[in-house]
Amino acid sequence: MTRRLAFVPLALALLAWPAAQASQAPGADAPRKAWWKEVVVYQIYPRSFQDSDGDGIGDLRGIISRLDYVQSLGVDVVWLNPIYESPNDDNGYDISDYRAIMRQMGTMADFDAMLAGMHQRGIKLVMDLVVNHSSDEHAWFKQSRASRDNPYRDYYHWWPAERGVPAKRWSFFDEEANAWRYDATTNAYYLHYFSRKQPDLNWENPKLRREVYELMKFWFDKGVDGFRMDVIPFISKDTSFPPLPASYGGNYVAYYARGPHLHEYLQEMNREVLSRYDVMTVGEGAGVAIEDALDFVDEDRKELQTFFHFEVADWGRRKGDFMYPDPDNRRLPDLKDVFTRWDRVFEKKGWGTVYLGNHDQSRMLSRYGNDTPPYRVASAKMLLTLLLTMRATPYVYYGDELGMANIRFREISDYRDLQTINYYTRLKREGGDVAGFLAAQAEVSRDNGRTPMQWTAATNAGFSTATPWIRVNPDHESVNVEAEERAPDSVLSYFRRLLRLRKSEPTLVYGAYQLLDRDNPEVFAYTRSLDGRSLLVALSFSASGGRTAIPAGQAPGKVLINNLATSPVQAAQLELAPYQAVVLELDRK
Ligand code: GLC
Repeated sequence: MTRRLAFVPLALALLAWPAAQASQAPGADAPRKAWWKEVVVYQIYPRSFQDSDGDGIGDLRGIISRLDYVQSLGVDVVWLNPIYESPNDDNGYDISDYRAIMRQMGTMADFDAMLAGMHQRGIKLVMDLVVNHSSDEHAWFKQSRASRDNPYRDYYHWWPAERGVPAKRWSFFDEEANAWRYDATTNAYYLHYFSRKQPDLNWENPKLRREVYELMKFWFDKGVDGFRMDVIPFISKDTSFPPLPASYGGNYVAYYARGPHLHEYLQEMNREVLSRYDVMTVGEGAGVAIEDALDFVDEDRKELQTFFHFEVADWGRRKGDFMYPDPDNRRLPDLKDVFTRWDRVFEKKGWGTVYLGNHDQSRMLSRYGNDTPPYRVASAKMLLTLLLTMRATPYVYYGDELGMANIRFREISDYRDLQTINYYTRLKREGGDVAGFLAAQAEVSRDNGRTPMQWTAATNAGFSTATPWIRVNPDHESVNVEAEERAPDSVLSYFRRLLRLRKSEPTLVYGAYQLLDRDNPEVFAYTRSLDGRSLLVALSFSASGGRTAIPAGQAPGKVLINNLATSPVQAAQLELAPYQAVVLELDRK
């Protein structure tokens, strides 16, 4: 099935125009409608979702066997982390063939069956596009490193050693944190912002850009419905590689995100590929500051539709080193400010996303909620309520619909993530505080968010018949799909109800967002309003509950959803129990 946009004769298009415009506007000031604004996305980390062939690694046939479950959640879109051929230095984010399926994941026939199975169930598929870098085992890089005059030389960034040592560039995953790697074959250094096995592609080269556009078309022509674009703001670089200006003050991520030709390339990609298909796009907005946001997603600029910003993810982390938590950076009003700022920026143009977890973060419940037994269920439901009541496209990470929590590894040998392992190796070599680092990683490591999906209470949680590639969280004995399917009060049952609410209330999708009670340290409260209808969302972020006033001139109306059995409504205020979440109608007095 081809997904190219049908050619519409100009006269017909003009005739249809006024009607199309009229049906666009849900309210005078509300954003324009689009299907990708109304969807709820479910992210699957394929390595960890379901193993079908007993090798301890999740695969495509495994996903196929769970599609009825995914459909039962009510989600519209699945985003799948990379499943392309890869030596798996960074679990698929190091791609050695963009047009082939990773052997451990299955075959292209499996992929086709998976995609057809999703489409039959009304689910769209978003794939990961990783084109800031490839694997060093990609044919392009093998050629590129072979000789200085190889036709593929300029597919990557090389610095000839006779020019001296290149100016320092920081690497996320390198054991020496050095993004330049010397390669003796041609007496030159190549650039790798991530691991040594992830050389950066050279977007200055039009041939490389053409290759990327062609591979995007390859997947779109198969029927894929969109791309999540890995570290996309990093693709453009100042290729004279000057010493970093002091003004960046160590903020490499922001420096990497501001390449001189970035928007030119994104506009070209839009023109050449995206504009020809009815698909969704979400960039990983690493390093993107709020002032730059609209440059990416203002519809008139024709670049991307949305991106993920990092300010919610950075909350609770040490500034300047996200590998450590920071208990002093966990004030609720600050978190509210982040949501409020980012809502405002897209008030008239562009559109936002909201996520509280993904494969690069520890578990949402353990980070923003409270995973101790008395509060775990309520706080997991409360966080899901936040996710599904913001004006932005929500991304739900697999297992968060069950209330999966951090596994908190103690030993370095339990970790699988190169980010943790390589940082540890460097720290140890430098005589740093490795015990302190391990304590930090138990809270914030990416592996916390990568443990296998918990299907049942059985050994390996029903994920695999073999020993899984990463340990299963022991709490799967009580936190699992099978148990939660049976329990009407479970996180899973609540999630399904909540999702139905979001889908039935345009106010929750398009309605204006207004923060209330900003300084309240326990309660996050806001209204969503559209066409005269107003909803109040109140979320307790505290083990002591909290209270907040009903906005003046309004009276509490029907409660649309409540994560606890008790009603919080007390005359003109809400008295919330610990981690209570409620969405209710507001009536004018
Ligand atoms: C992105 C991905 C992350 C990966 C990195 C390098 O941040 O989300 O998982 O390690 O890019 O590709």
